[in-house]
Amino acid sequence: MKSRGRYQESRLRSGAQWRGHINKPNDEPVRTSMETRRLILRPFESEDAEAAFVWFGDPIVMRFTPAGPDTSIEQTKARLANYQVHQTEHGFSKWIVLDRHLGRPIGDSGLLVLPENGWVDLGFRFAQPYWGKGLATEVASAWVRAAFDDFHIGRLTAIVHPENLASIRILEKLGFLTERRDTIMGMKSIVFSFRANDGETDSCFHHRMSSIGPEGTYTKACAASIPPRS
Ligand SMILES: CC(C)(COP(=O)(O)OP(=O)(O)OC[C@H]1O[C@@H](n2cnc3c(N)ncnc32)[C@H](O)[C@@H]1OP(=O)(O)O)[C@@H](O)C(=O)NCCC(=O)NCCS
Repeated sequence: MKSRGRYQESRLRSGAQWRGHINKPNDEPVRTSMETRRLILRPFESEDAEAAFVWFGDPIVMRFTPAGPDTSIEQTKARLANYQVHQTEHGFSKWIVLDRHLGRPIGDSGLLVLPENGWVDLGFRFAQPYWGKGLATEVASAWVRAAFDDFHIGRLTAIVHPENLASIRILEKLGFLTERRDTIMGMKSIVFSFRANDGETDSCFHHRMSSIGPEGTYTKACAASIPPRS
């Protein structure tokens, strides 16, 4: 579903353009939910705090997050409030991910502007029972498509701890390229990036984005373009 966000409405009234690398035409509605084969995504609401604390408060899920796990539900409420502010300001944010059939919250994923460097950063995170089913690949590919096609973002980054092998694998499968190693927000990191133009010059990009199979595997041609697991 798409509707025009408050952010965009106010920018339309002022005649302002999107800033920097976010280059959204003025007359396009903003996406406010997404569906994939197994998932529904929508912006966080305050009422989601209790459900979301299950994963934001889990030290294993948050192992590779610079700030670590939330230690109280109040911290999760503050986190969700920040995501809501970001949503209003930019038209996208980290969104809650729901199991499509049961309607149950199982994780979060989305895009955040990192103001220090102007990056738009892709993230994905699931409660532990939902790992290993291809869900992160499914949700990440949906966000890459939305970032380039709906939000007209020119370049995505993803910051990953070098030991977070599952995340590295997902990004490489989607076509992200390693940019450099760095320390970001105090965390040893690999910086991955993906430019919208990379998709145009990579003949398998659209194929990869549309051929995510039921378990997050590639079911069509171009599977050969996916790097082998190291
Ligand atoms: C990282 C995370 C999102 C992965 O979610 P997931 O749904 O299990 O991921 P997927 O099943 O879509 O894909 C994982 C891929 O990594 C591979 N993988 C998993 N563990 C691996 C390991 N130790 N070494 C190498 N590859 C690994 C899987 O085999 C799969 O690749 P394949 O499809 O080619 O077989 C999940 O573990 C999580 O929420 N972790 C905590 C939060 C987090 O670290 N988020 C990312 C921050 S950048």
